[in-house]
Amino acid sequence: MPKHTTITEDNIGQLVDTFYARIRTDPVLGPVFENKIAPDAWPKHLATMKRFWSSVMLTSGAYSGNPVGVHRGVPGLERPMFAHWLTLFGQTADSLFDPEPAAAFATKAKRIAFSLELAVFHRLGGPPDGLPLRQAS
Ligand code: HEM
Repeated sequence: MPKHTTITEDNIGQLVDTFYARIRTDPVLGPVFENKIAPDAWPKHLATMKRFWSSVMLTSGAYSGNPVGVHRGVPGLERPMFAHWLTLFGQTADSLFDPEPAAAFATKAKRIAFSLELAVFHRLGGPPDGLPLRQAS
């Protein structure tokens, strides 16, 4: 199949479906998602993510929500997972889109992942890696 040259609602839908199918089989990220999203809640998550990417790429305003608060409530989320998430997302975008639109997705994803990572893990006065301080003993 030829790759998409433009970013449309339909193409975003395909990207989201393909990406999360890939995520769910990933040995590192899969269990974190499966632990938080029940099998029957996946259609709702995918619909949310389609609205999110539609808002980001097409400025449709379809998404409203609080991604920082949501990710603070994801058990097992660890800082290095963001880089891995970005790798998988970039690979998925490259597999479906021409280089230019694929790069547009990757650029947005990197910015959002970076600010999400900081917002979730950075603590003022904490160590630079954002890991909790050990109890002094
Ligand atoms: C680092 C690895 C990541 C993990 C393990 C992760 C995991 C999750 C999980 C489990 C949910 C569903 C939470 C729930 O419904 O209770 C979620 C929601 C979401 N994630 Fe992530 N996520 C990651 C990275 C990202 C990145 C990089 C982005 C954006 C570029 C992103 C965007 C979102 C959005 C928009 C939602 C929906 C929030 C809402 O309900 O309004 N996530 N994520």
